[in-house]
Amino acid sequence: MNLMMRRRIATQLFAFILLAAALAIARPPQEAEPTAVDRQDRLAPFVPTPEKVVTEMLRFAGVDKTDRVYDLGSGDGRIVITAAQKFHAEAVGVELDDDLYRQSTERIAALKLQDKAKILHMNMYKVSLKPATVVTLYLLTSVNERLKPILERDLRSGARVVTHDFMIPGWEAEKSLDVMSEEGISHKLYLYVRP
Ligand SMILES: C[S@@+](CC[C@H](N)C(=O)[O-])C[C@H]1O[C@@H](n2cnc3c(N)ncnc32)[C@H](O)[C@@H]1O
Repeated sequence: MNLMMRRRIATQLFAFILLAAALAIARPPQEAEPTAVDRQDRLAPFVPTPEKVVTEMLRFAGVDKTDRVYDLGSGDGRIVITAAQKFHAEAVGVELDDDLYRQSTERIAALKLQDKAKILHMNMYKVSLKPATVVTLYLLTSVNERLKPILERDLRSGARVVTHDFMIPGWEAEKSLDVMSEEGISHKLYLYVRP
């Protein structure tokens, strides 16, 4: 192999490494496109938390600018957006549905909240919650039950979990709160604090 060929191969290799590095930066390792198997894990439909209840959930958990809030099954991104916009927290949503992921990501961009808020397009059963100080859930009791090992594995001591209407089986809530929505419908919130 002559010198010219060696140089060309070295240049191509360098370009390939640069491209691989750029792709790795663009897509954090945690965020992998949902697979067909992941999509079978869509165990809860999109039912949004009313805006007033969203604010009360975050207030109930005492969210402030030092918090990192994760909303599992983030729907249209309303909890993530409110946590970043009104409570100045860092906020991450996890959403499996393609349209809801796209809509919420576009809304975050339109509101110029990208520095504080983002949505991961993935199965929530595969997310690492190690960075979270607060987790919000509006999911069925059976879904909460299946999330329990992940919450117990990842959440640090003192991390708070707020659930809307559905409890986490086997965990004892610190307190609960009844909130009236804009439409006059009563919603129950539960606050859990990791020991
Ligand atoms: C009841 S909605 C709650 C939406 C939002 N958190 C709120 O309170 O307004 C549940 C959401 O979970 C999403 N979801 C269901 N299973 C999921 C999974 N395995 N991974 C990620 N998202 C999921 C659904 O697509 C839906 O948007």
